[in-house]
Amino acid sequence: MFVGFHHARFDALAQIWNDCLPDGYAISPDILKANSVDCPVFDWGASVIDIDDDAKPLGFVVVKRSAAKLYHGPDPDQAHLSAVVCPKPKMAVEMLAFVKQNLKDRGSYKIVFGQDIRHFFAGCPSDVASLRDLLMIEGFEQGGKYYDVQQDLSAYKPDEKALHKLKEPEVQVKPIGHDQLPQFESFMKAEFPGRWTYDTAAKVKAESGCSFVYGLWVKKDMKGFALTQDEKHKFPISGAVFGKGLGAKWCTLGPIGVAKDTRGQGLGDALLTGALMGMKRAGKRNCLIDWTVLTDWYGKHGFKIYRTYMPFSLKLDEVELESDVLEF
Ligand SMILES: CC(C)(COP(=O)(O)OP(=O)(O)OC[C@H]1O[C@@H](n2cnc3c(N)ncnc32)[C@H](O)[C@@H]1OP(=O)(O)O)[C@@H](O)C(=O)NCCC(=O)NCCS
Repeated sequence: MFVGFHHARFDALAQIWNDCLPDGYAISPDILKANSVDCPVFDWGASVIDIDDDAKPLGFVVVKRSAAKLYHGPDPDQAHLSAVVCPKPKMAVEMLAFVKQNLKDRGSYKIVFGQDIRHFFAGCPSDVASLRDLLMIEGFEQGGKYYDVQQDLSAYKPDEKALHKLKEPEVQVKPIGHDQLPQFESFMKAEFPGRWTYDTAAKVKAESGCSFVYGLWVKKDMKGFALTQDEKHKFPISGAVFGKGLGAKWCTLGPIGVAKDTRGQGLGDALLTGALMGMKRAGKRNCLIDWTVLTDWYGKHGFKIYRTYMPFSLKLDEVELESDVLEF
């Protein structure tokens, strides 16, 4: 029987997740809750839990709405399949039939796997073949690839050219102080409006501070930022949701960005180098950068491909749906 997430017991759901997915994707009940029902675009109507006669959860699907109400840009009629977690393919197919019908009835025309606000996945991870097979059977179309890259900072060697840049008197890379928060917020709105502004503001609020964001200053102007996370964070986002799988003293970096008028002068290299050196000095070990295509750039700084994601999406107006869909 299907029930909604009002009935969710997150300890039991996290257990199913951890049993169904490879160890590197292990999550806690708190992270599952934070990135599902506590997300402002969690879709209470389309997300579903399959339970047995004793009300024991067997599998579940997390659906999120478009982020269009949070910031300008996303397509309002596009939904996100944030996660499909269950041990049996037949159960997954039944849950997805419910999800597809529900979304189609409410005017969604497209479902994207992952890439949601407070996402778990940038696409289907290449090492979860059962999920890839399910999405393909369900008619989802595959797009290009995204990557997570990773390196152990204990062996990190900073790039010489970037070190040189960091020595220039007018260039500075350092954690953003509380008094610099208004400058950071204006910089984000001007340079990276949309998701990155929303994500960083939510993160700064949740962590009650901003010292985990490295700023790049050229003279007195903020010209770049790099968000970092580690195991002490209360509100892990993006790659940090799977931080535990990286071992003790893990950390993440990203998003990272440099002002448009400043790109191509070696300052992106300097910013990345400054942030990585800061994390290495703080004793951090495995560092993950999630959801990127810039593998050559990060490769130059010692990162190696750690995960590959295949984006998948489904046009709902092009699929035939069964009319006798289960209700709850
Ligand atoms: C990526 C970014 C931070 C690089 O900053 P930058 O100041 O332009 O970079 P630099 O001048 O230090 O260039 C460093 C090197 O990276 C390369 N590079 C820069 N942007 C690149 C891109 N988008 N794709 C591939 N390589 C890139 C440069 O060619 C240069 O290589 P070289 O040393 O062999 O000449 C900047 O382009 C940016 O903010 N982009 C938009 C946000 C973004 O994509 N962030 C990364 C998300 S994962």
